[in-house]
Amino acid sequence: MQPVRIAPSILSADFARLGEEIRAIDAAGADWIHVDVMDGHFVPNITIGPAVVKALRPHTTKPFDVHLMIAPIDPFLDAFAEAGADIITVHPEAGPHIHRTVQRIKALGKRAGVVLNPATPAKMLDYLIDMVDLVLVMSVNPGFGGQSFIDSQLRKVAAIRKMIDATGRAIDLEVDGGVDVRTARLCVDAGADVLVAGTATFKGGPAAYADNIRALKGL
Ligand code: DX5
Ligand code: ZN
Repeated sequence: MQPVRIAPSILSADFARLGEEIRAIDAAGADWIHVDVMDGHFVPNITIGPAVVKALRPHTTKPFDVHLMIAPIDPFLDAFAEAGADIITVHPEAGPHIHRTVQRIKALGKRAGVVLNPATPAKMLDYLIDMVDLVLVMSVNPGFGGQSFIDSQLRKVAAIRKMIDATGRAIDLEVDGGVDVRTARLCVDAGADVLVAGTATFKGGPAAYADNIRALKGL
């Protein structure tokens, strides 16, 4: 397990000032920038596309952790890679061939993540774990920030921690949805080492970001 890293979800940022918001969370100690891409089809909300990712890229050198909630997914992988994504994370339900999708992300020279919805079992990873760089466990149903943490996902995090340790590879284990100071501890105790946090990072405005991130890390 690696040290806990915080990936603020910019879904909770001020969309009219996204560049500034990214510079502020970078200065406040964010480890990664979590970018939620939604299409109004795979999930019931629409957010941003590759052009916005590209426009944000010069505002930080921190890794862009791009969580794609779009279907079909394969036609858009190249655009997000070119826009400056470092990690591209995909849902198995978003395309017909998740193995091929992961192969494509790797071929583009990016780190590949697979994300499991609350009802998707850990077993889904059996024939993927050896090729992924990250597993993301959704602790809410994807689509919106500000939802409540689904406790049953902690059991899944613990199961995936065992699978990852058995590979002997440094695969990141990330949790996304309803992460606050309380649930952050539960996730880390279950074996997570990257925490996505939208509401809990951005609450209180820029003056609070550094304290919010520190508290999420348990410092
Ligand atoms: C939900 C997104 C999350 C969301 C998290 O579909 O994947 O990244 O922004 O927001 P909070 O931390 O507010 O639950
Ligand atoms: Zn997300």
